Amino acid sequence: MCGIVGAASLRNVTPILLEGLNRLEYRGYDSAGIAVLREGQLQREREVGKVAALESLLEQRAVKGQLGIAHTRWATHGKPSTLNAHPHLSNASVAVVHNGIIENHEPLRRELEAQGYRFHSDTDTEVVAHLFHYYYATTTHQQDSLNEAAEPAQRLMAAFRATLGRLHGAYALGVLHIEHPDSLLCARMGSPLVVGEGSEEHFIASDPLALLQVTDRFIYLEEGDHALVSRDACRIFDTAGAQVDRPIVRFEHGDQIAEKGDYRHFMLKEIHEQPRVLKATLADKVSDEGRLLASVLGAEAEALLDRVEQVQIVSCGTSYHAGLVARYWLEGLAGLPCSVEVASEFRYRHVVVPNNTLFVTISQSGETADTLAALRFAKRAGYLATLAICNVPGSSLVRESDLRLMTHAGPEIGVASTKAFTTQLLALLWFTVLLGRKWLGEQRLAELIADLAALPAQIEQVLALEPDIAALATRFASKHHTLFLGRGPHYPVAMEGALKLKEISYIHAEAYAAGELKHGPLALVDDDMPVVTVAPSDELLEKLKSNLQEVRARGGQLINFICEDAGLEDGEGFHNLKLPKVSDSVAPILFSVPLQLLSYHVALVKGTDVDKPRNLAKSVTVE
Ligand code: G6P
Repeated sequence: MCGIVGAASLRNVTPILLEGLNRLEYRGYDSAGIAVLREGQLQREREVGKVAALESLLEQRAVKGQLGIAHTRWATHGKPSTLNAHPHLSNASVAVVHNGIIENHEPLRRELEAQGYRFHSDTDTEVVAHLFHYYYATTTHQQDSLNEAAEPAQRLMAAFRATLGRLHGAYALGVLHIEHPDSLLCARMGSPLVVGEGSEEHFIASDPLALLQVTDRFIYLEEGDHALVSRDACRIFDTAGAQVDRPIVRFEHGDQIAEKGDYRHFMLKEIHEQPRVLKATLADKVSDEGRLLASVLGAEAEALLDRVEQVQIVSCGTSYHAGLVARYWLEGLAGLPCSVEVASEFRYRHVVVPNNTLFVTISQSGETADTLAALRFAKRAGYLATLAICNVPGSSLVRESDLRLMTHAGPEIGVASTKAFTTQLLALLWFTVLLGRKWLGEQRLAELIADLAALPAQIEQVLALEPDIAALATRFASKHHTLFLGRGPHYPVAMEGALKLKEISYIHAEAYAAGELKHGPLALVDDDMPVVTVAPSDELLEKLKSNLQEVRARGGQLINFICEDAGLEDGEGFHNLKLPKVSDSVAPILFSVPLQLLSYHVALVKGTDVDKPRNLAKSVTVE
């Protein structure tokens, strides 16, 4: 959600900042801007729309310098416009980029206006620029922990700390002051920020991906940290203002720098990567001999898991759907009661915590604001322990949880989640099997592990059906509403299918448990409303077939995703896509894939921006 990049170097930083913005654009793309210091001048350029629009603008302007910050925006306060785009300036001497929300921006704005500051935008961010300008102008040279630093840096830091002390809400900040052509200030509270270490140059970014073209060495700022970054040094301070050491971490996915390759969109590439990343996700969790490797969860995990009597899962969006599928597994295979809730509701509820309940978060990014807040709440609420199932090592969720279970999907750039979802499902099924290992018995355990191992090859077979799915997609392009039906664990799979379709094709799609059809949604069915069913050959298939007849009897057009042995043939109003028959345990993972392809091809026919759908962002780091 918004992207920040900054650089302090001996070379011109503008190309580094623009490349960083391009790499971050999937996080927010309604406007972009850059501010660079050069020979005592602050140059700032901003443009509405995607980063390419800013790039075109910069071709006509000579924006060059050795210190700069840049931003790509996903609007929260103030509509997308040039005036609201970051960086925001104060008195042509301070520039600020910001991710997050300053909750007390209104009183701060009134206070600053009373001091004579004029505001030029509707954003919450502009208060930071003026506040910092105010404190810099009024701060005397104070002694602080920067004993070895020159006096001007002390003043800069004192003003920065005074500013941070006034802010309520969430922020990742990058700040420049014209009198300090070597210094980049940054801070993190509730929104991620990393410092990248190069050779005689330093960078900042809201996501390491932004900087992989210049470094693979990163320092992850912790909550409340702020830092003074220059070309040759980076000094980090904690909330109390004490200088601290944070480890330098090498970026693990350095070899997978996100490129589209020959694919038309990142989403398509990511759909096709699923066999490989599912294999990678399983690889560190099951030994060559088929033994479950509980140690990947963290030291002491096994003893702790033996005490688990219930599971509470909390997550958002697609990750929430993964949790809903897992509930069927945890209850059906491991015999553990499980509740699943969206984080934005859970975090404000007065929860009753049953004894020995494991608290599980699921998140692709590990930075989703509501999920993180729910975790922090849970840590005070008396849960047995916390587990993060996550795709990003070093993310806030991973760092703040007792146990971690990594998915290895690699960077996911398409806003609509695909490979992150199926790897979450695989990790959740593995985790269920681990929790239920004593209950399941050796033979069943071995069968389930074999099901997991066979899955990547079965998904290859589904991907080969893409031309047939593309043909089905043409039935949707002119429609405005769609219904998705499923039963059991395939009800949340249907929910995820509906979410994919609305995210990228803007067709209204709703999912229903097929048994609920006659309690309302059947009233909507006519031949203008396609009904998609997720119907593997499991114990509920016969019941689902009756639901199909109910739809057909009202003239509805059915698109059924079924197994080869389902005994359903194409006919008037029946369009079937036959998938390989797989075991019930992994069927929800397999059946997710054709629904991803269906949405993708509908979006292609409609001509929408598949990877960057309107109004959405990849990582939602604001509440
Ligand atoms: C956003 C993304 C979704 C994602 C959700 C939760 O809405 O567009 O794809 O499922 O956030 O994100 P997380 O990173 O916590 O899985």
